Amino acid sequence: MWESRRAAAVPGSVFALMDAAKGRARAAGLGIVDLSIGSSDLPPPDAVLEVLRGATRDAQTYRYPLFSDTAPLREAAAGYLARRFGVCVDPAREVLPLIGAQEGLAHLLLAVTDPGDKLLLPDPCYPPYLGAAAVAGLNVVTLPLRPEAAFLPDLDAVPVGVRPRVLLLNYPNNPTSAVADAAFFRRAAAWCRARGALLVHDHPYAELTFGAYRAPSALEAGLEGVVELHSLSKTHHMGGFRVGFAAGDAGVIAALARVKGAIDFHPYLGIQRAAAHALGLPDGVGRAGAAVFEARRDALVPALRELGWEVAMPEASMYAWARVPGLRDSVAFAVRAAETTGVAVSPGAAFGAGGEGFVRFALVQPPEVLREAARQLGTVPTA
Ligand SMILES: Cc1ncc(COP(=O)(O)O)c(C=O)c1O
Repeated sequence: MWESRRAAAVPGSVFALMDAAKGRARAAGLGIVDLSIGSSDLPPPDAVLEVLRGATRDAQTYRYPLFSDTAPLREAAAGYLARRFGVCVDPAREVLPLIGAQEGLAHLLLAVTDPGDKLLLPDPCYPPYLGAAAVAGLNVVTLPLRPEAAFLPDLDAVPVGVRPRVLLLNYPNNPTSAVADAAFFRRAAAWCRARGALLVHDHPYAELTFGAYRAPSALEAGLEGVVELHSLSKTHHMGGFRVGFAAGDAGVIAALARVKGAIDFHPYLGIQRAAAHALGLPDGVGRAGAAVFEARRDALVPALRELGWEVAMPEASMYAWARVPGLRDSVAFAVRAAETTGVAVSPGAAFGAGGEGFVRFALVQPPEVLREAARQLGTVPTA
């Protein structure tokens, strides 16, 4: 009775189904190996936790944080962007702290669109994008991500008449693990400028990269008409702390600050201090976490290939995205797998119609557990 049309439009989550399947497996006495949720199992760096502990003892951190209080985090974010990507932003006008990239995106869409505007979104995509689009009352136009195109969208194939308000991209990508180079972002930014669209790049996996690969920033293509969302959740294993930042076009940042000003205060000052410290750490500290995910990738991908599953070797992210031969109903398969083996994976269809036939593994268990999970999944019928 009290549900708004806006609330009713938010798509339900397949993860509730998976939760129920895990519950049934537990009730049947199976141990659960949960590879369905991309929440880092590693701790934040000690030094970051120490800053937070210290902050909780400082009474100055207990009050509502004002915009002026966010200066150290904004400056640390600007320093990180300059050091890591060679991108120069003004911390006063071109950076804003977020309570995570997910919060940032939902409010950003409210800040830069009006109901009925078009949002161009990849398919498959991180499911909350669809919820955020529904809350903002947007018309979603999907951009297929196909394995034969390395899961990069073909912007030239978008009909000339389609003039979206926003193009939303995410590389390193969830769920496909695909990566994009700086030239791709330059092309995407040029395409957006030609179509009058804002380019929003969601970049929570910026530092979860493997080997010699380093992810570029979309801001390298220029700040005008481009905004990027960064998160400490994956790069510093701080998902529960809820902190990130937006950076880019000053007009977009101002609109976002206005909307957020009506809805939330900034993150707790102690968390801001911890995040600022994390962003200033030498690169090596963050890379230690990435190396853990890389070793897990090295264990899981060959084990999946042995089953005959098609999976690219990810260069980044904390996922493996596997096409399962003959799979027509990934949700039924994932439920069956959880119920019969205790191994929980994300069905590809949870990320959009373009994900059907695939399953996503979050690399959140040690290598030997991942190898055994793959072996167990090989015993589950695909139909
Ligand atoms: C693509 C993508 N964006 C955003 C998020 C959420 O980031 P945050 O914890 O900063 O809200 C995730 C988490 O899995 C993600 O995969």
